[in-house]
Amino acid sequence: MFDDVLDRARRWAGDWLAGLGERPVGVPVAPATMRARIDAELPEEGEPASRVLDDLAAAIEPGLVASAGPRYFGFVTGGALPAALGADWMVTAADQNAALYAMSPAAAVVEETAARWVLDLLGLPGDATVGFGTGAQMANVSCLAAARRALLLGQGWDVESDGLAGAPVPTVVIGEQAHATLLQALRLLGFGSGRAVRVPVDDQGRMRADALRARLDDLDGPVLVCAQAGNVDTGASDPFAAIADALAARPDAWLHVDGAFGLWAAAAPGRRHLVAGVERADSWAVDAHKWPGVPYDCGMAVVRDGAALAGALTTSAAYIGFGELDPSSRVPESSRRARATPVYAALRSLGRRGVADLVERCCALARQAADELARHPEIEVLNAVELNQVLFRPRRLDARELAAAVQRDGTCWIGTTVWDGRPALRLSVSNWSTTREDITRSTDRVLALVDAARPR
Ligand SMILES: Cc1ncc(COP(=O)(O)O)c(C=O)c1O
Repeated sequence: MFDDVLDRARRWAGDWLAGLGERPVGVPVAPATMRARIDAELPEEGEPASRVLDDLAAAIEPGLVASAGPRYFGFVTGGALPAALGADWMVTAADQNAALYAMSPAAAVVEETAARWVLDLLGLPGDATVGFGTGAQMANVSCLAAARRALLLGQGWDVESDGLAGAPVPTVVIGEQAHATLLQALRLLGFGSGRAVRVPVDDQGRMRADALRARLDDLDGPVLVCAQAGNVDTGASDPFAAIADALAARPDAWLHVDGAFGLWAAAAPGRRHLVAGVERADSWAVDAHKWPGVPYDCGMAVVRDGAALAGALTTSAAYIGFGELDPSSRVPESSRRARATPVYAALRSLGRRGVADLVERCCALARQAADELARHPEIEVLNAVELNQVLFRPRRLDARELAAAVQRDGTCWIGTTVWDGRPALRLSVSNWSTTREDITRSTDRVLALVDAARPR
């Protein structure tokens, strides 16, 4: 019964993956064009699965972005490694509900092992607890929920039972360049993003430890400090050792690190210094679907105090016997796919050395891109390029127009941001399959578009 659809899906996937490297990367397409191909009334009668798949494959074609390919440099986007992709298909075929050990002993124990490997690779405490959720956004939520529980319990307040109204809410401290999803986590947890004390940053977007110390001097009571590994524009990480030092004398402090992609620097001996001291934090959010080549969607919440994470997120009911091996006691979701299985497959297929090489290679390719771009007198590279991000700006051209021209061209995909109050372009090398040739091909094209554009 399934063979036909699996064969069709296999053929489609094979063609898609084979064409990924040469397909125009992300050429803009209007919503009306896509709706005209996809939108229809819900059929009264069902249709054969084979027709559904074939029609869908044809309809979606122009709206697919080669974001898993080697020349997609937008946002911070990885691509699935072969082993992870295969494992992900197995996850879908087995269709396990990985909420509870009882529902899938295999998923629970694969997750336990993947968690151990992640802690080992990132140099985090071996006895920390890891929850596998949808991405760094929800990992931030999970970690900060654990922080909220622990800090308020320290004040004699059970927030899970009594809520936040009237609670002795801890002061939240963030860098001025905290990621948008960290702010979202603060909103979802009732801390409010606007109430957070903001610490000034340096020219790479790193929280300034001296400014943090000055802010802390003015604060009484528990504090929740949210630092960052990997600024989304520059790739720079906060000075964790100095931040941890500043908090050392405060027993009522929790240090969280949003390390969606930047925390993977810890897995590469040549880049580990960029996140020195990060292991001194209390919780860490990190993605699997960015650097280590796991398909969407997967991120990890790592918490030193596992009891705080479980206390914040465990759902219990008479019919659900939650125990330590139940994956859903560590994430906000109940029913969930066996999300850690592709992580297990990716890490096993790479090995410790492969993970380090992947990180190093992407960083070296980012350096190459920056050097090639900077050779043109019109281009100014704005960041130090120590990790995988390149932030640059044309001196006279309009940055947004240049990015739009690059996107229309389709050789590669580069997005925009605002840096120092002015538009800039950001190029992120996060894909295992990107080569030196991909970088040169892309920068050649960007510079040709610069030459073709008329200065303002
Ligand atoms: C620093 C940082 N935190 C959080 C996120 C959010 O990650 P996700 O989209 O996987 O939830 C990102 C995404 O780029 C990020 O760079």
